[in-house]
Amino acid sequence: MGGASRETSASGLGDTGCMIDGHTKLAGVMGWPVEHSRSPMLHNHWCRVHDVNGAYVPLPTRPEHFEAALKGLAAAGFRGVNVTIPHKEAAMRACDSMTDTARRAGAVNTVRFENGQIIGDCTDGTGFCDNLTAHGVTLSGRALILGAGGAARAVAAALLDRGCEVVVANRTMARAEAMVEALKGGEAVEWYDWPSLLPGCSLLVNATSLGMNGKADIDWDAMLRQAGSSLCVTDIVYTPRETPLLKAAKAADLQTVDGLGMLIHQARAGFRSWFGVDPEADEATFNLLAASLR
Ligand code: ATR
Repeated sequence: MGGASRETSASGLGDTGCMIDGHTKLAGVMGWPVEHSRSPMLHNHWCRVHDVNGAYVPLPTRPEHFEAALKGLAAAGFRGVNVTIPHKEAAMRACDSMTDTARRAGAVNTVRFENGQIIGDCTDGTGFCDNLTAHGVTLSGRALILGAGGAARAVAAALLDRGCEVVVANRTMARAEAMVEALKGGEAVEWYDWPSLLPGCSLLVNATSLGMNGKADIDWDAMLRQAGSSLCVTDIVYTPRETPLLKAAKAADLQTVDGLGMLIHQARAGFRSWFGVDPEADEATFNLLAASLR
């Protein structure tokens, strides 16, 4: 299918849908709910700009139907899927095999169907690191991660694998301890101690839900008072794009990287494996997603 017949548009699925033919490669995102997902917009944008005959659809899947749905999609000829909340752990059990990265992250967010096999991967950690690298951040030294949920673990694993020293602070200390034990690396510290550790850190990562639209927040200005001038501050929350943490870090003249790029970079590996093209995390892609968040 040639590029000339494909319309270029900033919108999501509608344009791609009308171009579907007998050769269209299919992928999608399984979640419950899934309406909030920006992935259909992102992947269909890449299909258009890279002239790929592909389509990426939302797949609202109830937890009790997850495994049957995953196997059904494989049987129906899908190339693969993304898996989001609340299925990331269930996907580990449902896959025939998974990458070491997924095993270490304790979650699967990207699946490819290949020769009758369901193969799971986790691209969150790589997406996180690629985004920082794209912003000129050197991944070295000591990284302080706030949070011990699924996203925190994927980020911690990726930073450890890249040689960083990792410190994890979580409101519930036992979860931080369980995480560093599962990763066989890093150190867990008490939640109330983390601001005092900032002087020795090169990177601060918020992987909690603090500061997310509608969620609890804390006094980040006060927390950042001890930060050294070379600290880079990043948030995996991207709603709002400029989180209260990033606002406080900017006010303290620290380098900041927002979470939108992680969303884009984590999607690249899936697109590559399903559609055979390495998509660009360029300005147009950022602008498209940023506009959808406003
Ligand atoms: P995910 O798996 O998507 O990362 P999660 O498991 O719901 O999400 O984790 C949310 C994170 O935000 C957890 O680390 C949580 O801390 P607890 O393990 O103590 O629950 C953290 N979090 C949520 N609300 C918080 C708050 N008010 N103060 C500090 N941490 C909070």
